[in-house]
Amino acid sequence: MTGRLRTDFSGLSFPNPFILASAPPARNAEMMKRAFEAGWGGAVTKTIGLQGATNVRPRFGFLKERARVVGMTNFELISDKGLDHWVDEIADVKRAFPDRPLIASIMGSLEPADWEILTKAVEAAGADAVELNVSCPHGMPEQHMGSFMGQDPELIKLATAAVAGVATTPVWVKLTPNVTDIAAMAVAAKDAGADVIAAINTVAGLVGIDLETFEPLPSVAEKGAYGGYSGRGVKPIALRAVSSIAAAGLPVSGCGGITIWEDAAEFMLAGAGTLQVCTAVMLNGFGVIDELSAGLVQYLERKGFASYGDAVGRALPGIGDYSALDNTAGAHARVDPEACNGCGNCVPACADGGFQAISMNDKTAVIDPAVCDGCGLCPSVCRPNAITLVRS
Ligand SMILES: Cc1cc2nc3c(=O)[nH]c(=O)nc-3n(C[C@H](O)[C@H](O)[C@H](O)COP(=O)(O)O)c2cc1C
Repeated sequence: MTGRLRTDFSGLSFPNPFILASAPPARNAEMMKRAFEAGWGGAVTKTIGLQGATNVRPRFGFLKERARVVGMTNFELISDKGLDHWVDEIADVKRAFPDRPLIASIMGSLEPADWEILTKAVEAAGADAVELNVSCPHGMPEQHMGSFMGQDPELIKLATAAVAGVATTPVWVKLTPNVTDIAAMAVAAKDAGADVIAAINTVAGLVGIDLETFEPLPSVAEKGAYGGYSGRGVKPIALRAVSSIAAAGLPVSGCGGITIWEDAAEFMLAGAGTLQVCTAVMLNGFGVIDELSAGLVQYLERKGFASYGDAVGRALPGIGDYSALDNTAGAHARVDPEACNGCGNCVPACADGGFQAISMNDKTAVIDPAVCDGCGLCPSVCRPNAITLVRS
């Protein structure tokens, strides 16, 4: 089954494109080894600094819809263990799983020597690549690290050049979406020696406010902070980032909201050479790899792709600026009366969100084709999927 998923990326051979993103599921050797046993194709370690960081607790907050998590924010820092500890962890994983690419995520300061020390040490321990974290949006920027560097092309170049100057393995640079033009940041990294762009890290956000106590969420002894938003809810932001970086001709490791195999397939079509996953693993465990890889293999087979690599970027030719869209192309909504359950959800959506084209006739939605604008709103509120949009 995995043959079709095997992929070569950045000079490394992955048994499948699914990689643990740098985050708690990769916070030590024991967890990464369990992930590899479960079938993950590679892993990026939790970000390693020269020293370990001290976290607050709690540090996670959630956006839920009917008890299901749509997204989460965190304000977790880099690893609580420093470089000395990580050298042994990396060597341990590589001894147990020499065939599985292990990418060491590192974070230094504005001082290039930090990055050089980290790179040399993780490579000597056996890391197959390094990933520069210039993208963490909380805690580290206050110390002029993380997204403080990733929001300035010159500082991206400073860190990337420092690593590329000493690295003997591929250099991955993980970017923040909290910028106006992530593709421009990717080009800056590439110009300074990056081999791969990883995108995205978390989106800066505030997940909620407790209505009784007025405390921002998550609340740490009654105080809150802007955190990093991740999970399914960030997928559109991540897909935009991945496709725009891929369209600029750069190899990209996609990340942000991958939860089910269909998400993975979309990232692949948008140009992701590998797929990084964090929140879905945090919420559901390493076992999600079974559904992700089985679903993706079946999709590749059904669409006639011999390998994952054959399908990478297939959607890119159709993704562009608004100016490429044809405003003379017509569309209209159509109801399948057999499938309509008479709920009437579509009527106020069309009446107050658009064009007053839908009415109910004997418990069946009826669309007036002379009034329907083809905007595409009504299918989104149709529970039985009785409304489709067709080209006209
Ligand atoms: C609790 C938590 C801790 C994280 N720690 C790191 C980190 O140390 N280094 C890093 O590069 N990204 C870190 N991330 C970001 C993830 O690697 C990933 O880029 C982001 O969560 C989007 O992917 P997802 O939607 O699959 O979670 C962290 C994310 C979460 C939720």
